Amino acid sequence: MPGEKVTLSVIKADIGSLAGHHKVHPDTMLAASRILAEAKKKGVIKSFYVTHVGDDLQLIMTHYKGVDNPEIHELAWNAFKEATKVAKDLGLYAAGQDLLSDAFSGNVRGLGPGVAEMEFVERPSEPVVIFMADKTEPGAFNLPFYKIFADPFNTAGLVIDPRMHDGFIFEILDVFEGKMVRLSAPEELYDILALIGTPSRYVIKRVYRKSDGEIAGVVSSERLNLIAGKYVGKDDPVAIARAQSGFPAVGEILEAFSFPHLVAGWMRGSHHGPLMPVGLKDAKMTRFDGPPRVVALGFQIHNGELIGPADLFDDPAFDEARRLAQLITDYMRRHGPFMPHRLGPEEMEYTTLPQVLKKLHDRFKPYELGYKPVIKHSEELSGEEIHD
Ligand code: 13P
Ligand code: 13P
Ligand code: MG
Ligand code: MG
Repeated sequence: MPGEKVTLSVIKADIGSLAGHHKVHPDTMLAASRILAEAKKKGVIKSFYVTHVGDDLQLIMTHYKGVDNPEIHELAWNAFKEATKVAKDLGLYAAGQDLLSDAFSGNVRGLGPGVAEMEFVERPSEPVVIFMADKTEPGAFNLPFYKIFADPFNTAGLVIDPRMHDGFIFEILDVFEGKMVRLSAPEELYDILALIGTPSRYVIKRVYRKSDGEIAGVVSSERLNLIAGKYVGKDDPVAIARAQSGFPAVGEILEAFSFPHLVAGWMRGSHHGPLMPVGLKDAKMTRFDGPPRVVALGFQIHNGELIGPADLFDDPAFDEARRLAQLITDYMRRHGPFMPHRLGPEEMEYTTLPQVLKKLHDRFKPYELGYKPVIKHSEELSGEEIHD
């Protein structure tokens, strides 16, 4: 109905996969699709598209129930549960991996699945781009989302289009503390960067167009290890960006991924590697369980229906980005178990590495360094005078 708000929900989970953490089995996608098809018949959702990126099962849905709706979240949860049953029957690897709870309690956030949802009044033509990544974390979208919505060298529309010229508001989460701050671009660009340059902790959650407050982008912010308190798998994220007519053009949105920047994840969720943009046919992880990959599907939302998709990175224009990602893969791999290929100690706390280190604990003897080390753990500036 004209004027009514449509909701686009992208909800994903790793419910088990074929050949280790390589890719989703088609039978699990079928099981999830059946549940969504029933819900569509009953009018719970308007339309849906089920796909996968690596070992992550992706549910893309439209409906009129708003974000965080218990009925929609329960539907996704049931679809994942049904798919998990199939994964268990087939003996797939890590069946039920991301479903951290046995019981659903009104919302899938906090139970393991990743969620990106936005609600808006449909424009006469409503193009959206849905990003889905595997072997990485929500903060992987910090750099490209910054470029899309704040960097005029990426997005010409920030300069040219009067509807975007005022800039965008970035809603940034501190996922360690459960806090949120809204910062305004371009006035507060350096503050935005001071936070989002630490992608493990500060995550761009939403982006709004400043001139009218319209939602422009949203990213999933669920971090599995912070929910579970241990490493169970990486929190492979999803994101949505609205395009054209006062938002960045589709090509501006995609341009941000032409640089395969380093992200955390990859093998055992414990390594930095390049984020490689790929088409669906290449959305499967191989080398060192990666490298981390991102797929972009373009849809038009029309009368609440998902029209599409267009497999946007399935294009020779991204061949060089992929080639560079391969070169970076070689370069990073040669570091073996060394940082900065392997993640730093804060992130490794959640893996099985501390068990190994514990064995060495008693082997350490006192040693006079000749100074008393001053160790600081705070991410925030202490406020003391700093000399550089
Ligand atoms: P067309 O002239 O092909 O419609 O493209 C317009 C545009 O702005 C592309 O970014
Ligand atoms: P996923 O998070 O994609 O399941 O990958 C886990 C892993 O350990 C890969 O090496
Ligand atoms: Mg997995
Ligand atoms: Mg995965």
